[in-house]
Amino acid sequence: MSADIQATNVGVSKCSTIVIFGASGDLTRRKLIPSLYNLYRKERLWETTRIIGFARRPYTTEKFRSLLLEGVKEFSESTFDAQLWERFAPKLHYFQGNLDVPEDYERLAAYLEEEEKKEKREQANRLYYLATSPVYYMPAVAALGRFGMADETTGFRNIIIEKPFGRDLTSAEELNQAVHAAFKERQVYRIDHYLGKETAQNILFFRFANAIFEPVWNRQYVHNVQITVAETVDVGRRAGYYDSAGVLRDMFQNHLLQLLALVAMEPPTSFEAEALRNEKVKVLKAIRPVSLSDSVLAQYDHYKDTPGVDAESRTPTYAMVKVFVDNWRWKGVPFYLMSGKALEKKRSEINIEFQCPPHMMFNRSMSSDFAPNLLSIYIQPDEGIHLRFEAKQPDSDQESRSVDMEFHYSSSFGGSILPDAYERLILDALHGDASLFARSDEIEQAWRLIDPLISGWENKHGPDLANYTPGSWGPLAAKQLIVQNDCQWK
Ligand code: BG6
Repeated sequence: MSADIQATNVGVSKCSTIVIFGASGDLTRRKLIPSLYNLYRKERLWETTRIIGFARRPYTTEKFRSLLLEGVKEFSESTFDAQLWERFAPKLHYFQGNLDVPEDYERLAAYLEEEEKKEKREQANRLYYLATSPVYYMPAVAALGRFGMADETTGFRNIIIEKPFGRDLTSAEELNQAVHAAFKERQVYRIDHYLGKETAQNILFFRFANAIFEPVWNRQYVHNVQITVAETVDVGRRAGYYDSAGVLRDMFQNHLLQLLALVAMEPPTSFEAEALRNEKVKVLKAIRPVSLSDSVLAQYDHYKDTPGVDAESRTPTYAMVKVFVDNWRWKGVPFYLMSGKALEKKRSEINIEFQCPPHMMFNRSMSSDFAPNLLSIYIQPDEGIHLRFEAKQPDSDQESRSVDMEFHYSSSFGGSILPDAYERLILDALHGDASLFARSDEIEQAWRLIDPLISGWENKHGPDLANYTPGSWGPLAAKQLIVQNDCQWK
């Protein structure tokens, strides 16, 4: 058995064709094909599944395969297996077409039908993947609808749509309407790769497959929650996109709010897409509108010198936002969300700090050193969960020290390789399981929360952006926001 985690209940997907739109882009090479290659290696794809790359560049199928081979060698988490590649490569085909030329979709539809007929299966299921620039989402879904490619007479037609899903509430609503004009909601899989990370999924298991944590998971015991997605990378070559997006659109509307929803939601009645997503929407709706004074936005020094960035840019590359969830469980508990580029370390984690004991019976001068209990969920790297508590220092009178109970995926699951988030999500979309994908109302509610914050900061009379040194932990003002509430950044 390989060192991968072997999920026992994951069957083979019954999909004839996977079509990737925008297949000459980076995402296909770095994430999608390495994930599909791994799924094939784990025997989760049919031997006859075809993977069609649709893009404008004049590639041949051979050229396409050789580019993807490089991607698999570089980015697949498993060791490269040449024999396996020989079996996998014939599944890959290139179809040249323009994303904004409807006739090219018509040609594609005819080609797919032809190929599927040859296969002679009872059903010919398809998964479409929109890995294009967002400007093509509308024309693509319109063309898929127009040429009958969303019609499910001969098998399912599921569609994965990459983020960003809109750039504000209005554009997200328009996009949802365009998508719904062609596809039913149950066919649509809006991806947020954070939900595919093993450790993010494990939040649900931690909370709802154990009985001892839920009783303390509320305002009576929790003092504050901190959700961090810190990156060391700067905007690099993505300046064109990033300068018009900024950290609130790029990270908060999606990844950070999704993590918050997993931490704060009520227990769903079942592990099914609708039940889960209903609870996530409920908790997003309970978030109080964020006031500008509860946010600190900043830009790292010399960001404006990046090629592709406006010399006057006011785009934030860092944000710390304090939010409150106004419901019975969480009323009054601050949730601090922080994300930024060019920071000291790459780490994504959730820290739940508990209240101090109500009465301290130990020597008072010592008790001032007691640290509150802290539950840390490490999303990445060093995936795992730690619980900090106080222990008596051996051979002392009343001295204590904070110690950790630790769970590490790497040791508990025997050096397992955690599957890439895309692998999990593509497999789920192939199986028709939308639990880890965002529903239309969820996306819209997230924009409803983020939009006023963005416009407040983008307003030229709005607050000034702070600045920070690349390689630091962000601006001082962010620390002050936390200290105001008697909290410390973990
Ligand atoms: C993407 C953002 O959604 O997530 C990027 O667009 C960011 O700007 C990335 O770098 C972070 O993902 P991860 O998995 O590396 O934490």
